[in-house]
Amino acid sequence: MRLQDKIAIVTGAGQGIGKGIALRLAKEGAHVVINHPVASTQDKAEEVATLIRAMGRQSITVQADVSKAAQVQAMVEKTVETFGRLDIQVNNAGVDPHIPFLEMTEEQLDFVIDVNLKGNFFCAQSAARAMLKTGGGKIIMISSIHGMQTYKRMTAYAAAKGGINAMTRQLAIELGPHNINVNCVAPGAVQVEKNYIMDPNFDPHAFDHEIPIGSIGNPEDIAGAVVFFASADARYVNGQVLTVDGGTSTRILLGVSDKKVDVVEQVVMMKPEDWLGDSK
Ligand SMILES: NC(=O)c1ccc[n+]([C@@H]2O[C@H](COP(=O)([O-])OP(=O)(O)OC[C@H]3O[C@@H](n4cnc5c(N)ncnc54)[C@H](O)[C@@H]3O)[C@@H](O)[C@H]2O)c1
Repeated sequence: MRLQDKIAIVTGAGQGIGKGIALRLAKEGAHVVINHPVASTQDKAEEVATLIRAMGRQSITVQADVSKAAQVQAMVEKTVETFGRLDIQVNNAGVDPHIPFLEMTEEQLDFVIDVNLKGNFFCAQSAARAMLKTGGGKIIMISSIHGMQTYKRMTAYAAAKGGINAMTRQLAIELGPHNINVNCVAPGAVQVEKNYIMDPNFDPHAFDHEIPIGSIGNPEDIAGAVVFFASADARYVNGQVLTVDGGTSTRILLGVSDKKVDVVEQVVMMKPEDWLGDSK
């Protein structure tokens, strides 16, 4: 129980990573506001809230599009009106359409930047204004390894996520003096329902060989890092981006197949005298 009776908002919490974070925060003792974007996402959000109430915590759902400042402000006001305060804000909501750079329209670019980057800005700003009134709090951004590592067809998403990483550091110095810690979790590949909607043939084991830990992550892996940032254990942690990707981003991938790596390893295993050649 690291978050006993804390009040938390998790954006985009009706499914996927957000759902995993919301359930874990509740397990740690928090009461959780389940944010979702539109009328059609209400039922899924309500399912998560019901699970949380069954755990003995309080939970409400609030519809708000995070890309709209007024809706975000109303969500925070509803939270404070219901629970009296806001202690933890988790900016999880995000969209990641895969669109080739040369084909991306202005409208598509605005959508990706508005939800991912402006959404994090508006949520952090409204949350911080509420936290100021009760002596502080914790803001946790969710970015992505794509904020640092490249992948085709993700230019706008990567730019937005890189912007979230930069915003995390910036807000750390703006809000630190107000006892508000701002940190960020950057997930690698995580298995969520959406993977199967984007690709019905999605194979969760397709990348196992590229992930040092040997398998794709799950929402609970991300939730664990969020709980740390939200807890008193992170009192002195501020402005940090923690990559949670099983070690994926530590690798250099220059088209080196595992077979070629084996050959390279044989070369590395040569004895010192083998390298001396003619100079022996
Ligand atoms: N799954 C992964 O492999 C992965 C990897 C790195 C980062 N992430 C990030 O993790 C977060 C969660 O992603 P996920 O994989 O669970 O995907 P997901 O699509 O299942 O979840 C995204 C959630 O955001 C909500 N949402 C979308 N637009 C919104 C808006 N305008 N306002 C409020 N809510 C909105 C959706 O309803 C949904 O519940 C995202 O920020 C994503 O970029 C995911």
